[in-house]
Amino acid sequence: MNKRVAPYSLLLLFAVAVASCKTQSPTVSTADTRVKESQGVYQYRDEDPTVKPFFSDRVGVTGRNGMVASAHPEASQVGLDILKAGGNAVDAAVAVQFALAVVYPGAGNIGGGGFMVYRESAGKSYSLDYREKAPGQATQNMYLDSAGNVRQGLSISGHLASGVPGSVDGMVEAHKRFGKLSWAQVVQPAIDLAEKGFAMTERDATGLNRIKTDLNTINPNKTYFLKTAVPTDTTTWHKGDLLIQRDLAKTLQRIQARGRAGFYEGETARLLAEEMVRGKGLITEEDLKNYHSVWRDPIQATYKNYNVITMPPTSSGGVALVQMMRFTEPYPLRRWGWNRDSTVQVMIEAERRVYADRAKFLGDPDFVKVPATQLMSPDYLRTRWTDFSWAKATDSRSVRGGTIPGYESLETTHFSVVDKAGNAVSITTTLNGGYGSRVVVGGAGFFMNNEMDDFSVKPGAPNMYGLIGNQANAIAPNKRMLSSMTPTILEKDGKLFMVVGTPGGSTIMTSVYQTVLNVIEHGMTMQQSVNALKFHHQWLPDKTIFENGAFSDATIDALKSRGYILEKLSNTLGRMDCVLIRPDGSYEGASDPRADNTARGY
Ligand code: GLY
Repeated sequence: MNKRVAPYSLLLLFAVAVASCKTQSPTVSTADTRVKESQGVYQYRDEDPTVKPFFSDRVGVTGRNGMVASAHPEASQVGLDILKAGGNAVDAAVAVQFALAVVYPGAGNIGGGGFMVYRESAGKSYSLDYREKAPGQATQNMYLDSAGNVRQGLSISGHLASGVPGSVDGMVEAHKRFGKLSWAQVVQPAIDLAEKGFAMTERDATGLNRIKTDLNTINPNKTYFLKTAVPTDTTTWHKGDLLIQRDLAKTLQRIQARGRAGFYEGETARLLAEEMVRGKGLITEEDLKNYHSVWRDPIQATYKNYNVITMPPTSSGGVALVQMMRFTEPYPLRRWGWNRDSTVQVMIEAERRVYADRAKFLGDPDFVKVPATQLMSPDYLRTRWTDFSWAKATDSRSVRGGTIPGYESLETTHFSVVDKAGNAVSITTTLNGGYGSRVVVGGAGFFMNNEMDDFSVKPGAPNMYGLIGNQANAIAPNKRMLSSMTPTILEKDGKLFMVVGTPGGSTIMTSVYQTVLNVIEHGMTMQQSVNALKFHHQWLPDKTIFENGAFSDATIDALKSRGYILEKLSNTLGRMDCVLIRPDGSYEGASDPRADNTARGY
């Protein structure tokens, strides 16, 4: 049964917020000039006409019968074709997951894992945890030397970095329970793409060129992800080159013919286990046979007249999203305006507290007691907000909660699907780092994950992106590593409203948080919200990173005067793929203009 978190007491938090205003009032725009909703399109207004809050002016894709938004045009097309062929949202999602494993090898995968949040058109919701697990021979100190120091790189690169993959089992489970078309039909498009090849985008080509040295070093046998297998060779992939993956096609055919046994047993399992022996990895045929994904009760929590349906632990994302939204709920963000200093200040302070909690309390719920309900409760959040001050940024060193998280990989991927009946799927899936461990399973033709780095390999020791954790996320055999992935669905007044998610490691939760608030508080369309520039704070390091243009000069000055440290990024935040249900029942598909992301609908 779905767990519903008790509605949040607005009055309780508002009382705290008002009390906190005593020393200095927030900057509130006198006239609500920043939000205009004529024809439902948000018009940004600010004193500074040079400020542009959007990364691009891309407009959303409209459909009435189905919508797919994913990281790659080929994968979105596969999803759309499945919907048009009479498949439901789960059929399309399974087909997209397999298609991404072919056309988006940097993050799409069968050698990794992920999370699915599913809402049936009738209103019942589910979540599926197909996160990777530590191998049976894993030990808490497996990445430490005899002096207890971290052996750098072992949890990141090569065979020892991989957890037992969950994606194939996840897709089998999802399809078995909710699919309508045959299994063979939903796997076939990926086989076709692998067998016949697909024309690479510029980004596809650059991605593979970037990892050429690793591919050569880690995979002594030629892999087709290299144009040539010679490390010193200057031959590189170019836009339009055809990438054909015959070994992967055969692996997918085994999965098509035998379902989960096509991956976790027989030829694929043998090839994977042999690859591990060759590279001194730990995953065995026994580990593969024992892997099973888990249906979990999704988190459901109210925010005003919305119901947020999101991923419970093993992800930290759902708990964090609900905490952040509830910290924000009592404040008049719409009146203050998008990314005005008061709006940003409240959001930063919410983020600071949430990430401190993440580091302290979150881990695999099958191994540690995760106090998720308490962390989202009004009483608890009220105590967390008592040191909030308009006058001054809270000092992260004074925020108790845990140890220092840092940046995780941006190389995850998210996709959203809604079918004609209104069934909705939100999936985030990953290899962790780009192209995972960079190990390609010999003869089976797919990348393995480096998800073991999402464990806390040693309390207080940062992982490759600066992430630090504690005992709750320590390595143990068969345990799942903590994730930030936040596939989410929102209902408005009891009806399907939004399907949302993104890659971005530790920035996932804050990007989802902003994307949701941009629509429901600031009146943006789905695509505008995806286009909107973003910012991120994660407790420690105690600074706010932001996309160039996300803050006006006035916002920057006001925040700096209160002690906030701001850092403009040279790169971008988020790769959102979302769907919004408009008041007239049509779907708006929104894909992130920061990469190859594409929405397709009809
Ligand atoms: N590997 C990224 C995440 O699961 O959060």
